Amino acid sequence: LSADEANLVKSSWDQVKHNEVDILAAVFAAYPDIQAKFPQFAGKDLASIKDTAAFATHATRIVSFFTEVISLSGNQANLSAVYALVSKLGVDHKARGISAAQFGEFRTALVSYLQAHVSWGDNVAAAWNHALDNTYAVALKSL
Ligand code: HEM
Repeated sequence: LSADEANLVKSSWDQVKHNEVDILAAVFAAYPDIQAKFPQFAGKDLASIKDTAAFATHATRIVSFFTEVISLSGNQANLSAVYALVSKLGVDHKARGISAAQFGEFRTALVSYLQAHVSWGDNVAAAWNHALDNTYAVALKSL
């Protein structure tokens, strides 16, 4: 990512990175097949799990992963660390039977959440698109 793109991703992520529960709930609401892969949440009504401590814990783990990768991005010196993190994410999810198509669904839901909750525009959209293309190119290798 260019420094400009990294800054756009960072400043928009800062607007939602503490909405962990809201973000995961939006993903599950849009794609129940994603929720179904979580042993603790499969088959349950989203409204009944959304306010639980277990849901907050999972949401925080997932959202924090983005926060960590985004904080490392835009700096060549961090490229190999980012690569290792994202590569491990792919391997760990492969082991859980998650498909590339489901990663695609997750991306769609995340981008639509961002679009609705951050100051959005063509330049922000393009920066996220580039960031997610790069991330997914690595993660999907294992899926
Ligand atoms: C666990 C991130 C997409 C299902 C996790 C964890 C993180 C994470 C950080 C906890 C650490 C770990 O146990 O590996 C992400 C990110 C995603 C993504 C950043 C997209 C870019 C998905 C998708 C699914 C999924 C699409 C399902 C279709 C799971 C499950 C767990 C998990 C089942 C384990 C939950 C448990 O411990 O019971 N994910 N995830 N993830 N993720 Fe994802």
